[in-house]
Amino acid sequence: MKRCPVCGSAVEPVVPLGRMPLANGFLRQEDFPSEYFFQLTLGFCEGCAMVQLVENVPREKMFHAEYPFFTASSTRMAEHFRAWAEQVARERLSAPRSFVVEIGSNDGTLLQVFATAGISHLGVEPSANVAAVAQSKGVNTVCRFFDEKAARDIVREHSEADAVLAANCFCHIQDLHTLAAGLQVLLKPKGVVIFEDPYLGDIIERVAYDQIYDEHAYYFSLASVTHWLSRHGFEIVDVQPQATHGGSMRYVVARCGELNATSQVDVQRRKETTLGLHSPETYRQLNVNVRRSRDELIELLQRLKRHATRVVGYAATSKSTTVLNYCRISTDLLEFISDTTPIKHGRFSPGMHIPVRSHKEFQAPYPDYALLFAWNHADEIIEKERAFCQAGGQWITYVPRVEVLDYATS
Ligand code: TYD
Ligand code: ZN
Repeated sequence: MKRCPVCGSAVEPVVPLGRMPLANGFLRQEDFPSEYFFQLTLGFCEGCAMVQLVENVPREKMFHAEYPFFTASSTRMAEHFRAWAEQVARERLSAPRSFVVEIGSNDGTLLQVFATAGISHLGVEPSANVAAVAQSKGVNTVCRFFDEKAARDIVREHSEADAVLAANCFCHIQDLHTLAAGLQVLLKPKGVVIFEDPYLGDIIERVAYDQIYDEHAYYFSLASVTHWLSRHGFEIVDVQPQATHGGSMRYVVARCGELNATSQVDVQRRKETTLGLHSPETYRQLNVNVRRSRDELIELLQRLKRHATRVVGYAATSKSTTVLNYCRISTDLLEFISDTTPIKHGRFSPGMHIPVRSHKEFQAPYPDYALLFAWNHADEIIEKERAFCQAGGQWITYVPRVEVLDYATS
């Protein structure tokens, strides 16, 4: 039985998703025999409300020199980060010699805004290939995992930080206590930590079970984040829901007593009580909904196959790995997956080994149906792929429900 790393209580396994490969483990044919698998199970800690994986994958297996996710792959995400960086620069970094640190800075999409404005900044990024892309854009980046030691080194070599930012990163860090200890070292007395991650409430409401994969060690809520950070002398002073990744939450964190909390914090706390995020029953129901979603998707794909239609996957996301393996979808139901990331081309999807091909092959010729694995980027993608619908193509999604989207006539 797993003990919760935050509070030490027993973690109840609530959503078992079976044997799973690495979500971003896109591989070559010769690597099939040595592919890594683990048991993917969502767990719930009633002691501190932290939703988490029951089994974790060693971090070096996930974040390394061939990490295939690049933030800049979505134009809308790049716009989201630009707006956020400009807001932080305006509201938190107006003093001369301000210093901002981003943890999990990937290809430097967010920090580039500070670099261009001449603001002192540093990215901390353990995956060497994406860190190198950031450096090539003029974004100061150190290639390492963030922990207390890294924080001490940064303070010694630079200074304490006015703002520490992280997007879709903290939920990847298994040792939350070391992370918080590092933040204590790094942050100026009146500094802020602002981080955003996929929001548990949205995952549950939309049955977005594909957000559950190896890299996401935690599925945060205001309640669980409060339990965790209050043990380290921090408090949440604001929460700001975001539309990104199908529903995220941005948390603004300060040292206890340093900043006044907004009324939004209480509003969100009450919402979480209504949503039942503290109750094990909520997660048992999630499991029922996840199974139903799987059964409906398999049924739809099998029906399309009987009619000899061509179905391809659109975007080889990390999330797609959970869906494909949990639903056991292989090349008999899905011809290939189209993706814009060059490092994924010519490789195969983790576990089910569906070929990943360039976007060119999506168009030549268009398939009858495209299963949208990047449903979180639906607006951006459907808009730029209008020609697909004009050619009679149809989108399939499974979040918030399994359905064929009818854009052809609109
Ligand atoms: P995202 O949902 O951010 O991925 P993840 O589930 O890994 O967090 O989507 C990023 C992936 O989607 C990346 O492999 C590139 C691909 N993609 C496309 O192929 N076309 C597109 O138009 C977009 C926006 C993304
Ligand atoms: Zn706990």
